[in-house]
Amino acid sequence: MHVVTPMASFQNPSLPLAFFLAITAAFLTNAAAAVAAPAPSPSPAAIDITGILDKGSQYTTFKRLLKATEAYQEILTQLDDSSDGVTLLAPTDDAFKALKPGTLNKLTAQDESELVLYHVLPQYYTFDSFATASNPVRTQASGYDGVDTVNVTSTGVNQVYVSTGVVGTTITNAVYLKYPVAVYSLEKVLLPNELFGPESSRRPLNSPPAPAAKPKNGTAAAQSSENDQSNSASENSLVKRRIGWGFVVGFVLARAMGLL
Ligand SMILES: *[C@@H]1O[C@H](CO)[C@@H](O)[C@H](O)[C@H]1NC(C)=O
Ligand SMILES: *[C@@H]1O[C@H](CO)[C@@H](O)[C@H](O)[C@H]1NC(C)=O
Repeated sequence: MHVVTPMASFQNPSLPLAFFLAITAAFLTNAAAAVAAPAPSPSPAAIDITGILDKGSQYTTFKRLLKATEAYQEILTQLDDSSDGVTLLAPTDDAFKALKPGTLNKLTAQDESELVLYHVLPQYYTFDSFATASNPVRTQASGYDGVDTVNVTSTGVNQVYVSTGVVGTTITNAVYLKYPVAVYSLEKVLLPNELFGPESSRRPLNSPPAPAAKPKNGTAAAQSSENDQSNSASENSLVKRRIGWGFVVGFVLARAMGLL
């Protein structure tokens, strides 16, 4: 009779050992100071993304959202399918708390997924490669307008400014930096322009009451530049429209007075 020995699971002791070392290294690695990896190229499965985010336990909301959406699976797929690696821009719990109340609750499942994937870049970025990246930088998120992007600008040594067109924040803290995974800490949630920007009339989500009246044909003031910051575009055209009305009223008054 064939007997399975209890030793069977230890027949290849190097595997659990490598895993243990990888986890230990993940905990010991601090900021940019990279500890030499025990295994040169860990398989994606061995990279415990949520374990990395458990450090300091200040990313619980982001971690929950990663798991609640397709984002987590997309990260693993990206690591499996590509050698480009992946970069996570992880907002802290405080960053999520600083959002306007109800921001997350108002999102549809699809939009929530887009928001989370917006914090995933399908490439491994160090501070140096951020500095040389050409804008706009692709994220893993996409909406009706195609791939959502961020702009990244180097603002100093180990310091980059990332902006979405709606919000911007400076990144100085690398939580984990070891190819193929980079994780940076963010003090603000990155709000994609497509979901939260002034042009995002396609979704009811943030619906600012601004564009009440449709611009009439012939009023040149109706044009608004796409890249203007947040509300300034609509404010601008509103001001121009007011000036336009002032002009019309003034003109009519002048004519009336002239006729008197
Ligand atoms: C991002 O950078 C591109 C290219 O430099 C620029 O055209 C665009 O206006 C920038 N967008 C934002 C939101 O800063
Ligand atoms: C505005 O004018 C353009 C041509 O000048 C015309 O094609 C378009 O239908 C007009 N739109 C409205 C709402 O009148």
